Amino acid sequence: MAFDFDEIINRRIPGDIKYMPVNGRDDILPLWVADMDFRAPDCVRRALIAQAEYSVFGYQIPDKEYDSLVCEWQRKQFQWSIKAEWLIKTPGVMFAVSSSIKALTNEGDGVLIFQPVYPPFANVVKHNKRQLFVSELYLNNGRYVMDFADVESQLSKGTIKALLFCSPHNPVGRVWEKEEMEQLAALCLRYDVKIISDEIHADFVYPNSRHIPFASLSEDIAASTVTCTAPTKTFNLASIQVSNMIISNDSVRHAVQAQVYATGYSSINSMAIAACKAVYRDGKDWLDELIRYLAENRRILTEAFPSDRKIRISAPEGTYLAWLDFRSLRISDNELNRALLYTPGVRLNTGESFGKGGSGFMRLNFACPHSTLIEAIKRIKTIL
Ligand SMILES: Cc1ncc(COP(=O)(O)O)c(C=O)c1O
Repeated sequence: MAFDFDEIINRRIPGDIKYMPVNGRDDILPLWVADMDFRAPDCVRRALIAQAEYSVFGYQIPDKEYDSLVCEWQRKQFQWSIKAEWLIKTPGVMFAVSSSIKALTNEGDGVLIFQPVYPPFANVVKHNKRQLFVSELYLNNGRYVMDFADVESQLSKGTIKALLFCSPHNPVGRVWEKEEMEQLAALCLRYDVKIISDEIHADFVYPNSRHIPFASLSEDIAASTVTCTAPTKTFNLASIQVSNMIISNDSVRHAVQAQVYATGYSSINSMAIAACKAVYRDGKDWLDELIRYLAENRRILTEAFPSDRKIRISAPEGTYLAWLDFRSLRISDNELNRALLYTPGVRLNTGESFGKGGSGFMRLNFACPHSTLIEAIKRIKTIL
């Protein structure tokens, strides 16, 4: 193997969020926060060293090459043709989402999300003083799907002005199919609801699934959609802080840009520019091998928890997050979390933090060496 994803890296250093000790214990296996226990590809190290050696950190903005690399990435990965002038760069996807909510809705308007979902979705809506509307995803033959009748009944009331969509979906691992998205898009167009499509997990898709950018469905949909992308999840660069929004509609883009400026923010930093260019230019081989490695972890996990046992899991179609179903144990989320954390020592995210439909589930981040995952599975099984 050309890249070493088996290496155990010591992340037990001050300030590392994922590896923070819990009650003084530093032997807990942390499979929670969504970053990876892998080094970023070497092209990032080289790009950052070059920038550090140059040592000029004066004001800088992304250049033409930056824009064309971002556009090329969308074209090569998802066959989506976008233009450089459609881009807005921000320090993060949630910053982009928040700016979009401010631009597309007014205080008091409704924003719809599908739960269970990444917890900051609900928070960003509430912190912006918008009304939170939730449509619960439901399990259909072991696979989460949207309840379109519920979506239509909520949208038809007229309060909801924007939909915050997660594609692929964290935590349930769905890679939405074209027909599902078209059905959702038709409802958004019918009731004049704008779409904020968070596609930060788009590069993590397993065989038999395909990520389709929501805005690529049609020109009408593109005109109503803000797409939030980033190289940070894909290449494990969360603390470098960079994201690229794609907005083809001029007036929507200007409105979002105005909200970004309203925060006082002007440009991403020089290290973020260097890292983003490096991975989109030279990171594809690393990513391909990473996906193969993660696919093997996904196999290890699904074989460890067959669907007829007490702890169930359905193989995620995308993301490196698994959604474990502990409901048959009939214990509260709190008890379950404590049972895993304090005795065997494995830290997962409690399902209820993703919304009430997540109760009885836990989210497991499997972006770690095979040996770490195998040890975590052993520890999880001891609670049975
Ligand atoms: C769906 C989703 N959106 C956004 C983020 C965070 O992105 P950022 O750190 O760029 O704000 C995450 C991180 O886990 C995520 O899962």
